[in-house]
Amino acid sequence: MLIDTFGRVATDLRVSVTDRCNLRCTYCMPEEGLQWLAKPDLLTDDEIVRLITLAVDRLGIDEVRFTGGEPLLRPGLTGIIDRVARLANRPRMSLTTNGIGLERTAEALRDAGLDRVNVSLDTLRPDVFQAMTRRKRHADVLRGLAAAHAAGLTPVKINAVLMPGRNDDEAPDLLAWAVEHDYELRFIEQMPLDAQHGWQRDGMITAGDILASLRTRFTLTPEAAEERGAAPAERWIVDGGPHRVGVIASVTRPFCQACDRTRLTADGQIRTCLFATEETDLRAALRAGASDDDLARIWAHAMWGKKAGSGLDDPAFLQPDRPMSAIGG
Ligand code: GTP
Ligand code: 5AD
Ligand code: SF4
Repeated sequence: MLIDTFGRVATDLRVSVTDRCNLRCTYCMPEEGLQWLAKPDLLTDDEIVRLITLAVDRLGIDEVRFTGGEPLLRPGLTGIIDRVARLANRPRMSLTTNGIGLERTAEALRDAGLDRVNVSLDTLRPDVFQAMTRRKRHADVLRGLAAAHAAGLTPVKINAVLMPGRNDDEAPDLLAWAVEHDYELRFIEQMPLDAQHGWQRDGMITAGDILASLRTRFTLTPEAAEERGAAPAERWIVDGGPHRVGVIASVTRPFCQACDRTRLTADGQIRTCLFATEETDLRAALRAGASDDDLARIWAHAMWGKKAGSGLDDPAFLQPDRPMSAIGG
């Protein structure tokens, strides 16, 4: 079991399979991209499958989410999912993607054993999409979303980040569109995890702003508290149901006390938290020939040291060295 000193138990593993991306979202990375991890530093497909197997067999993990960068850029992803789906203790499996390439791969991912997807989409306007991601790929994302829905990778969730002066007027339009297409929309407060260190608390759009904007057009009723569990998103029922809208308010309404996550980076480092400033090198142990017992012990020990929370409200808050794109959100 992965338990920490605050009694939280991690049952949800997020595996980043690449730090590369084919978009350049302004809240995430600079135009020129980042210094990508070198191929030999990445865990191989076999290493990823071994660590996931260990996590589900010995450490109590029952849900695995594949993230990036953009996880669909990893050639072996479908094969990894297929192998994990064959485990006796098969975990639930999901994917967080920007949607590019999903049109081509949705059915194969489902056939391999993927259960559902979350897709990032901040705007319905192609010109705003281009300004926010620095790429002309809006139509690809919409087609990817439709393909995921058609393939039954449901509920298909959409993650939207609102940026002042860009798309902060779009919350009600996004929600009307998501309801029409049966996507579950969640708005995410921008977090200080961008590679450029450009985040400013004063400039960000808060959960309060988002809810006020949505309420100009919709009636929102809070979901019963017990339905939330450890989910980062707080949800509201839209106009009496059945659709819901979520807000992931990591900054203004943190949910760290219920956190059930552990993370593995593409280069095999355990992160106990999105905002952790230290990592544990599982890859070195793995490549030095560690047994499953050894690896389980290292992972459990790392999680025991998990901090109480993100530390965002601490005046001494330090942004982690590793940016969001290399952590996997
Ligand atoms: P489901 O609710 O299971 O569909 O997944 P999710 O919302 O956890 O996953 P997703 O990858 O779509 O993440 C959505 C947003 O939540 C991203 O911006 C993540 O960075 C954020 N998020 C995920 N896990 C955590 C966490 O442990 N702490 C904080 N503060 N944010 C998180
Ligand atoms: N703050 C909040 N969300 C972010 N994402 C990427 N960078 C940030 C940030 N700095 C979102 C992406 C994706 C999810 C995994 O995280 O839009 O939907
Ligand atoms: Fe790529 Fe996601 Fe970063 Fe956008 S937020 S550049 S889609 S890793």
